[in-house]
Amino acid sequence: MATRTLLVTGSSGLIGSEVCVHFAQMGWAIHGVDNNQRAVFFGAAGDTRWNQRRLQESLRSFEHHEADIRDRERVLALVAAVKPDAIVHTAAQPSHDRAAAIPFDDFDTNAVGTLNLLEAARRACPAAPFVHMSTNKVYGDRPNTIRLKETDTRWDYDDPAFAAGIPESFSIDQSKHSLFGASKVAADVMVQEYGRYFGMPTCCLRGGCLTGPNHAGVELHGFLSFLVKCNLEGREYRVFGYKGKQVRDNIHSLDVARFIHAFIESPRVGEPYNIGGGKANSCSILEAFALVERFSGRPMISTYTDENRIGDHICYYSDLAKMRAHYPAWDITVSLEETIRQIVAAQRQRHPA
Ligand SMILES: NC(=O)c1ccc[n+]([C@@H]2O[C@H](COP(=O)([O-])OP(=O)(O)OC[C@H]3O[C@@H](n4cnc5c(N)ncnc54)[C@H](O)[C@@H]3O)[C@@H](O)[C@H]2O)c1
Repeated sequence: MATRTLLVTGSSGLIGSEVCVHFAQMGWAIHGVDNNQRAVFFGAAGDTRWNQRRLQESLRSFEHHEADIRDRERVLALVAAVKPDAIVHTAAQPSHDRAAAIPFDDFDTNAVGTLNLLEAARRACPAAPFVHMSTNKVYGDRPNTIRLKETDTRWDYDDPAFAAGIPESFSIDQSKHSLFGASKVAADVMVQEYGRYFGMPTCCLRGGCLTGPNHAGVELHGFLSFLVKCNLEGREYRVFGYKGKQVRDNIHSLDVARFIHAFIESPRVGEPYNIGGGKANSCSILEAFALVERFSGRPMISTYTDENRIGDHICYYSDLAKMRAHYPAWDITVSLEETIRQIVAAQRQRHPA
């Protein structure tokens, strides 16, 4: 089979870089698009040049394009020149909390940047599967209306309808999203529309906590990665409300890349999927502290403030039933414990004490 070509936006980020490696190993030629905007959003700690260099040094079939997805003419020209066999769109302003300070940058990147890519794909390669990284923040704070029960270490759903987590049929309407959630809703609906209206093979992956050793974690984005960084550096980790019992479901970036591969090989049209670790890979912040301490051997130092982050989920885990039904060969392969072990090991290697 001729070499197939993949275009990956946000290629220097956590998910983008994992996707580049995964598909390069399968023999695809990779075109990465990134402009290190994460360092603009979050400062030096968010810099992803190290990850770009890692890809350039380790993947023979990788070509980096220093391009901004907000630059419409550049995106149209690039997609027309590459004519990829598939597109994976992971570039974003990814922080819930950061968006309020930079509403134009947030919307231009998340919503308009996605439209630029969709339209470029429709003109140049409409049959190419288009995978968009969306977020569980499209559901706004509506998950907080589900009845909850409290245990010693976490909140959990106290409603049998959500025993397996939040399904894709959950309403995205009439709740508080943050400006980030709203810009991602715009993109999510547009990606579905290019599927339903134009018949293009698109999907939206509504991520829970996507994580792994290659995240440039910062306080405002990259929960586990940042938590490990604080632990290893002896820095204080700030917990915002909900008694530290707020629950996140964590999925290793490898399992995200594996699902993206499954979709690209057998695409559907305009499908949203809730992609997270599911209940089995969920943990509260307090539970994450204990796991990180176990792997690092260092105590977690933390402070607590009563005020929660605006619109923050009290308990969220994804119902993976639809993903498993559509792609039965796919499932989670990396446990939460193994993910944390890898994050601790990678950060020790990148920043030896
Ligand atoms: N990590 C998570 O926990 C999580 C959870 C839910 C959804 N998501 C979504 O998954 C996607 C990937 O997340 P991630 O954690 O890999 O993010 P990341 O910040 O690690 O990677 C995103 C990359 O995109 C690049 N980028 C940003 N704006 C750009 C622009 N205008 N032009 C070109 N490149 C640009 C950044 O420099 C960065 O390298 C995002 O859409 C995010 O909203 C992530």
